[in-house]
Amino acid sequence: MCGIVGYVGKSDATDFLLQGLYRLEYRGYDSAGISLLRDDGVLERRRSVGRISNLESLVGQSTVQSRIGIGHTRWATHGAATVPNAHPHYGGHPQHGELADLALVHNGVIENYQELKQDLIQQGYCFQSETDTEVVAHLLHRTIAQMRIAGNFQPDSPIAHATALREVLGQLRGTYGIVVMFHGKPDFLLAARCGSPLVIGVGQGEQFIASDPAPLYGKTDKVITLVDHQIAIVTSRTIQVIQRDAGTIQPNIQVLAQCDDAHSCDGHEHFMHKEIYQQPEAIRNALRGRLDRDNATAKLGGLNLTAPQLRHIERLVLTGCGTSWHSALIGEYMIEEIARMPVEVEYASELRYRNPPVDKQTLVFGITQSGETADTLAALREMQRKGHPCLAICNNIGSSIAREADGGIYLHAGPEIGVASTKAFTSQIVVLGLLALYFGRMRHLGFEAGLRWIDALEQLADRVETALQTEEQIKQIAHEFKDATNFLYLGRNYLFPTALEGALKLKEISYIHAEGYPAAEMKHGPIALVDEHTPSVFLLSKGLVYDKIMSNLQEVKARGGPVIAVTDSIDSQLEKLADRIILVPSVPEPLQPIVSVVPLQLLAYHIALIRGCDVDKPRNLAKSVTVE
Ligand code: AGP
Repeated sequence: MCGIVGYVGKSDATDFLLQGLYRLEYRGYDSAGISLLRDDGVLERRRSVGRISNLESLVGQSTVQSRIGIGHTRWATHGAATVPNAHPHYGGHPQHGELADLALVHNGVIENYQELKQDLIQQGYCFQSETDTEVVAHLLHRTIAQMRIAGNFQPDSPIAHATALREVLGQLRGTYGIVVMFHGKPDFLLAARCGSPLVIGVGQGEQFIASDPAPLYGKTDKVITLVDHQIAIVTSRTIQVIQRDAGTIQPNIQVLAQCDDAHSCDGHEHFMHKEIYQQPEAIRNALRGRLDRDNATAKLGGLNLTAPQLRHIERLVLTGCGTSWHSALIGEYMIEEIARMPVEVEYASELRYRNPPVDKQTLVFGITQSGETADTLAALREMQRKGHPCLAICNNIGSSIAREADGGIYLHAGPEIGVASTKAFTSQIVVLGLLALYFGRMRHLGFEAGLRWIDALEQLADRVETALQTEEQIKQIAHEFKDATNFLYLGRNYLFPTALEGALKLKEISYIHAEGYPAAEMKHGPIALVDEHTPSVFLLSKGLVYDKIMSNLQEVKARGGPVIAVTDSIDSQLEKLADRIILVPSVPEPLQPIVSVVPLQLLAYHIALIRGCDVDKPRNLAKSVTVE
């Protein structure tokens, strides 16, 4: 997902722009650029592909002293990762030797950019890029030109520039977070938001703009979060917010909740490793203040529905993407087993367009770490449009989904910087476990059973601490299997979605192809993949289906496939069959995913490390996908 920074104030803009872009690296990108304003009012820009360090060395070669500037990390949507496609984009006719009138950065997708582009080309605009963003830049240039001709454009008025931008935004279909700076205008930036987040850091004689709070730590703890259809005029001392259809409004200044250490690895080599080890603490945070032993239930304050309203709910829909969809699958099994409520799990991108028949007494949960995933936001909006109460299980306080949902439950896991989700996954399952307890105790779950569930939840953090002690063994296994080109991850019941998650972790950071399957499914095709070069990771736990999965393990061994077993108990048969055995603590079956996923996270991490992959910022990926 793209990252945006902007600065106007008393200091040199370049420093904040570059450091801010470094703070936004975790969002994923493939090119970057900044734009500055020379003392003579001329716009300059530097752009590069690859890492921000490439941009930094480019900037260093010819530094422009400027107290205003904008910057951008681009995650390619329209057009390849090239310098011409990198932001900022100019508006005007710079290719005719004219100076650029404006420089603009954008996060989001303009769906009608092609028709707008054709119209501009017919009017003589030449495009230097394949992006939708450049269309917006030229549209703004053309609108200002038209307003000048009509005699209603005050060239020194920031309001006039904001009026022109509002006119342009009215022509766009899609999503945007936009920041614009203008030739000869050293005093103000414009920022506008619809669907792609933007925050404004309120400083002393300086203001900071960013896609999320990460670049603001250490600069200010006061922040204004723009909401959809707002434009901000930002000068070094003032921030004026204009709401479409409402005019100028008083912005709401909030205090940043999280401290700066979220953006340091605290002695770990990577954020992902840090966040894997933060899981015990994250689990404790997710449970803190939410266990009610007196009533053997959960305390969930943010549902914003009364007990009678919740008692009338007969069905749940859980929707999300990627890892959050995997935790939803585990939530389905848990809530159906413990609360005896039917649960439907939907890919958010499917739910948005599938138009399924949904019973009117249905409560929808959007599950999301970032709270900015476009597919999940769109699916929730669609279900809200149909009249269903929509709640969020979310980690990012103040995010779009957290704000637009009718309520919800925060994970309190702390910022998750590594693109591969780890602590958010296990925290989501804990929160879903709290929901299962809450709904169960509203229905048929007895007091004693409720207390047993509370005990199991409270022991989880310690069990995960124990699971983390398998790391040295995992490192050896990683060395043995680092050259495989295919992996299978197999589990049954609660460990089937866990297998999906293990496969996703390996895929996304080591680039090795991996598939997760219900173990019984092997017989129906995937077993054709098994040979001596294809490791199968089996997830086992002593329980209902243990003997069945042992049969599946034997089927793989009979075809010469190497087997890595992650299990909560070892017997002589497993010792004979498995090539490697990773022992993890045993917990009640519905919570086993939280413990059994830890070795899978570590396995993916160490294989990726050995293969020289960028663990925290894997290729092609973004931490939060704000485009559909
Ligand atoms: C997980 O490791 C991936 N980074 C990705 O699948 C992620 O879970 C998905 O994009 C959903 O993100 P969200 O939880 O922030 O909505």
